[in-house]
Amino acid sequence: MGDNTFSFDAFAQHAFYNNVIRQLVTLANLKPGQRVMDLGAGTGAVTRLLVDKVAGQKGAEVIAVEPSSSALEIARQNLADIRGTLINFVQSKAEQLTDIVSKPMDAIFFCNAIHLVKEKARVVEEIWTSLRKGGVFTFNTTFFEGAEPPESQQFYKRWMLRALRLLKGRYDLSPTREKAEARQRLSEAEYEQLVQDHGFNVKSKEMVRVEMPMESFEDISGYELWIRGILPGIPLDIGAKVLKDALAETATELGLAFSPRNWLLMVAQKT
Ligand SMILES: C[S@@+](CC[C@H](N)C(=O)[O-])C[C@H]1O[C@@H](n2cnc3c(N)ncnc32)[C@H](O)[C@@H]1O
Repeated sequence: MGDNTFSFDAFAQHAFYNNVIRQLVTLANLKPGQRVMDLGAGTGAVTRLLVDKVAGQKGAEVIAVEPSSSALEIARQNLADIRGTLINFVQSKAEQLTDIVSKPMDAIFFCNAIHLVKEKARVVEEIWTSLRKGGVFTFNTTFFEGAEPPESQQFYKRWMLRALRLLKGRYDLSPTREKAEARQRLSEAEYEQLVQDHGFNVKSKEMVRVEMPMESFEDISGYELWIRGILPGIPLDIGAKVLKDALAETATELGLAFSPRNWLLMVAQKT
């Protein structure tokens, strides 16, 4: 069984999240019978949507690539009910994509993950090489300049301040100074430039504003990469606890049930 502790799975069940990834997959305009890749597949939420789009025609294939063995195991379990479409699960990273792609793909998705990558230019190059001419690279992120609307900033500020206070007060701990990759944000224009620099044409670009329920912030506070991003160097169980407690206090204090956030969606075609 895959270990669900500190996994992305609970967050990935939220309705608003599924709407965002559905919208992204729709933008890519996939056809039955295509061969597509879900890079950074996590626990398989996007993979399932891709199967729905390409299923029903000979040749359909979905490759789910994920570096975390525990996430990949959960993805296998989550998708165990799918019959009739070939899903290949591969433990690997975006930086090594060309090592695992033997035949050019029709589409490559990199969802909610590109911000985690340090060498973005290298990864875009790997994706370019792994696509057929006319194939599409589709990605989204909520870690870019402008992801948090101005009216949400008080919420984040208070939440983080309270989390740091709880961490210090209860455990006498402070995060290390290491800067998580997701904090080094690109703007929408920089993402566009990044793909254009590698010969892609931007086919679609959208900014989607969602109202995130407090329960989704609670669920993301139990996710390993979120905890490490905000509280580097802190043990995951302690990090999750202080983030959740600080969130509850902040939500009560500000009387919040939701907070807005923007997602950037982009589809780029190999020319
Ligand atoms: C926030 S989850 C998103 C999961 C899924 N793509 C979705 O949108 O629901 C980010 C995933 O990216 C993966 N990841 C992190 N660095 C990566 C890299 N260099 N190459 C490929 N995947 C990576 C993580 O292990 C994690 O499963």
